[in-house]
Amino acid sequence: MGTKGSELVKKINLGPSGLQVSAVALGVMRITKLDLAQATALLDTAYTSGINFFDNADIYAGGEAETLFGAALKNASFKREDVLVQSKVGIVPGKRYDFSKAHIIESVDGSLKRLGLDYLDVLLLHRPDALLEPDQVADAFNALQNAGKVRNFGVSNVNPGQIELLKSAVSQPLVANQLQLSLMHTGMIDAGIHVNMTDDRSFDHDGGILEYSRLHNMTVQAWSPYQYGFFEGVFIDNPKFPELNAALDKLAAQYHTNKSAIASAWLTRLPGTQVIAGTTNAKRLADIAEAGNIRLEAQEWYDLYLAAGNDLP
Ligand SMILES: NC(=O)c1ccc[n+]([C@@H]2O[C@H](COP(=O)([O-])OP(=O)(O)OC[C@H]3O[C@@H](n4cnc5c(N)ncnc54)[C@H](OP(=O)(O)O)[C@@H]3O)[C@@H](O)[C@H]2O)c1
Repeated sequence: MGTKGSELVKKINLGPSGLQVSAVALGVMRITKLDLAQATALLDTAYTSGINFFDNADIYAGGEAETLFGAALKNASFKREDVLVQSKVGIVPGKRYDFSKAHIIESVDGSLKRLGLDYLDVLLLHRPDALLEPDQVADAFNALQNAGKVRNFGVSNVNPGQIELLKSAVSQPLVANQLQLSLMHTGMIDAGIHVNMTDDRSFDHDGGILEYSRLHNMTVQAWSPYQYGFFEGVFIDNPKFPELNAALDKLAAQYHTNKSAIASAWLTRLPGTQVIAGTTNAKRLADIAEAGNIRLEAQEWYDLYLAAGNDLP
């Protein structure tokens, strides 16, 4: 299935789903700082910039993000069918992770109600539940798919072993894995570059998830693409990172674009990777979307990796 919309941002396949998704997507975790008119303008800017994919979660702003996104989607100048809406389930904030059948189904019903939609294009399991019972997830996915409430399924923040465990019962393809990934959060890449070394960067925290994702045709969705640490702040224009910002500036000038676009293009240069940008600023979103036309040279990609404070053994 294709979607309409501008071709300004390149489209990639979302795993084996058959969906063509923009390589830059809009995440709406922070959207409730906007009012309805501003949120509608943000969605319209996304669409006219070539972004056709929107990432939600049941827990963002305690559900208020889905409510506002849904209202903005109704007001927007494009049709719901022309874009793809993803949400997530499985976190009960501050209490537990919950992949039980009852929780998954109830949560999706809640998301659809808040969003004012009949179906989600994609549902992700948000963060692994230590008490996972794969049969429960399989029953929930089958029920949601048969009811026409969810069309595609995926995961977030999981490693290959956890995916295999899910697949022991789940029959639908898992089309995406949403993972923290940015120029300042490269552990999954470092471990591959430092393989067989004894330094800290050689430590594999994630079970080779990038290689696994490629082998199994799962799109990697990069969350917090402009942040360092765990929501510590933005690295772009941040004086804490002079070398990285100088390298971003240089390439931004060379490609006649801006630093956010270059930081995004660094991610989209990784095969099968989609950027989930969380800006609430329409101008910034249009800037970020410029990444959709940029393919960095391999040396430029490595120059940025090194400027971010990494090394090559
Ligand atoms: N799966 C998961 O566990 C998980 C976890 C976290 C997030 N997510 C998803 O990922 C999305 C993005 O996460 P995020 O919002 O943390 O990531 P982000 O896009 O890296 O950060 C966006 C924040 O950075 C600010 N910002 C300041 N200068 C910026 C610049 N030059 N370029 C871009 N942003 C700048 C934005 O402010 P303005 O709004 O003023 O532009 C906004 O507050 C979320 O919306 C959510 O959908 C998923």
